[in-house]
Amino acid sequence: MKKITLKDKTFRISIPYEKISQAIDQVADKINADFRGCEDIPILLCVLNGSIMFMGELMKRLDFNCQIVSTKLTSYEGTSTTGRVKQAMGLTADITGRRVIIVEDIVDTGNTIVELQGILKDAGATETKICTLLYKPEAYTKDVALDYVAMEIPNEFIVGFGLDYDELGRNFKDIYVLDI
Ligand code: IMP
Ligand code: MG
Repeated sequence: MKKITLKDKTFRISIPYEKISQAIDQVADKINADFRGCEDIPILLCVLNGSIMFMGELMKRLDFNCQIVSTKLTSYEGTSTTGRVKQAMGLTADITGRRVIIVEDIVDTGNTIVELQGILKDAGATETKICTLLYKPEAYTKDVALDYVAMEIPNEFIVGFGLDYDELGRNFKDIYVLDI
């Protein structure tokens, strides 16, 4: 589909699934190169709900033993950030003494990952790496380095491939941008 309508807004296709899939191949190669042969069992942290589709695609490309843990954070209302990050669901397992790879759909202002790093440190993680499907460099306000970035995008509101507009649009496999 070239265009989709969610509630009151129309979105046009921006990144087709094939391109997303290739970018995930590349980021998975980097993670495998860093973790292959490790003796611990690193945790892949799924940040619900946005990361579900990315996590599904990423994990099937990883070839070291790993464990999935989830948590849920929210900060967006409509098409913009509230600036406040709420933890809507705690970590689904004990992560004491473990290395964690945060798997995010998108890093925008960076508020969420900074909040997450604090949560993981308090929960006893020994190391955190950040892996994100998408990154908006123009919106980023933090100096935390991102370890694995699949794609950089302009500062525009997007949906699809797990990302939503008021909970709609997560199911589309391509990425769409607001059509103004
Ligand atoms: P940050 O805390 O500002 O970095 O925002 C991170 C979260 O906001 C992401 O995990 C998304 O859930 C949401 N978000 C940021 N940009 C977009 C977008 O363009 N579309 C949909 N959700 C977004
Ligand atoms: Mg998210």
